[in-house]
Amino acid sequence: MQVKENKMIRITVLEEEKQYQILCEEKKSIMQALLLANAEISALCGGKGICGKCKIKFLKGKTEPSDKDRKTFSEKELEDGYRLACTAYPRETAVIQLYMQKEQKIKVVAETEEKPYNGTAYRKDSDFGIAVDIGTTTIAMQLLEKSKKESISAYTGLNPQRSYGADVMSRIDAANHGWGEQLQKKIEEALEVGFSELIGKADILKEKVEEIIISGNTTMIHLLLGYSCETLGVAPFIPVNTGAVRTDSEKLFPNSGLKCSVKIIPGFSAFVGGDITAGLYYCQMQKKEGTNLFIDLGTNGEMAIGNREKILVTSVAAGPAFEGGNISCGIGSVPGAICKVDMKGRKIESLETIDGKEPLGICGSGVLEAVFELVKEAIIDETGLLEEPYFDNGFLLDEQRGKNPIVINQKDIREIQLAKSAVRAGIEVLLKRFGSTYKDIENVYLSGGFGYYVNVEKAIGIGMLPRELSRKIKPVGNTALAGAKKLLFQNAEWKKLRKLTDMVQEINLGGDKEFQEFYMEYLYFTLK
Ligand code: FES
Repeated sequence: MQVKENKMIRITVLEEEKQYQILCEEKKSIMQALLLANAEISALCGGKGICGKCKIKFLKGKTEPSDKDRKTFSEKELEDGYRLACTAYPRETAVIQLYMQKEQKIKVVAETEEKPYNGTAYRKDSDFGIAVDIGTTTIAMQLLEKSKKESISAYTGLNPQRSYGADVMSRIDAANHGWGEQLQKKIEEALEVGFSELIGKADILKEKVEEIIISGNTTMIHLLLGYSCETLGVAPFIPVNTGAVRTDSEKLFPNSGLKCSVKIIPGFSAFVGGDITAGLYYCQMQKKEGTNLFIDLGTNGEMAIGNREKILVTSVAAGPAFEGGNISCGIGSVPGAICKVDMKGRKIESLETIDGKEPLGICGSGVLEAVFELVKEAIIDETGLLEEPYFDNGFLLDEQRGKNPIVINQKDIREIQLAKSAVRAGIEVLLKRFGSTYKDIENVYLSGGFGYYVNVEKAIGIGMLPRELSRKIKPVGNTALAGAKKLLFQNAEWKKLRKLTDMVQEINLGGDKEFQEFYMEYLYFTLK
């Protein structure tokens, strides 16, 4: 029997100064062809035609506009050849210009409240270890001199799997649609690049690296280890394995030239992974007599409450808004992202961007600030409605001379509203189930990149965090990395992780009536 091969269509890609060609299989989208060609692209929604970030322009061979194109572009833009790469299925040779958002310079919180790596003198014949945090958006790692318990070099980068979607669900979806091997390869290669840079900077022999400890959420670890994600993305969300894994670098990172053991920090469930174990361990929640709250805000909101008797954990679907995802002018924490907003009356009093660059868009902490300011100035009402004359076109933050203006629109406000009430409702349920009140809480550890940059006062203002806890809130930075570091320095503690994971109970908030009630209650904006 003859197998009919699909036609390959040649696409010429223009990207800034570069020009190259890719082949696109018939019935495949331009996005899929770009991914196969390893192009660095941004597909925040994982190619569902929702985020609008995969903009291209056909200079030749334009496709019929899809429904999603019609929702995203004006008639004039469609006529000029603008399309979404994820819904463009070419039928003939084409020339396209890429307009996708590049985020190589994203700011990664690789540090913690403790002293960062210091680059001081170290003995090259010492024994070293590498602590790694694989985040959904970013990767952070440090090379550590074990005997002196010091970090001597650090590396941060973007998780290249972002091309397959910004959140864990898009990655699971991609893995379940045949991209699992590519996803695994991408993270393996990205970590190998990081290892080689760390070792190169420190100028040590690879043989001196004894151990690598990795923390990551359950999806990141599944993709790294090549586990099937089939049951991870659908109820009842069953992971293949969340236990501790011991393996070696020759198996996991064959091109790294390292010969050492690799340990993966255990997690609890599909939504509460080893990154949270590392965070709880770093904050030593399991040893404290008093009750502490741990909140990690990223593409998901994970939180825990506990003391040395018991720890409860849960996760809420906060959506990617806190990382600039699903926000009309949202971008990651890159130079030029608006991160601070102050208003007086109906006017912007000051805008601050990351690194003081020309405004390009707005990042998660910037959106939260803008929403707070708009509520403060009564431009957003209690229910989250933008008042006239801003309802249709949004509130202008920056004209961005000659380019698309940066605005906050009604949909953006809803995203923040849903995210903040999910987080707050999660906190309230945890407190209640633990039998605690605000008064009983000793510390609130605010973990993760967003927690590091967010203006706590404004987060309290929109009701995301309780005012009663304001003096107890401590941004603690990247605790997933800090926990992995701590474990490297205290090898004997690895065995005690089991005790920590055993004392944790997870609360599933899906369909929880009390959670729903709190969620509805905290949807409102009443300035606190
Ligand atoms: S719209 Fe194409 S990747 Fe989101």
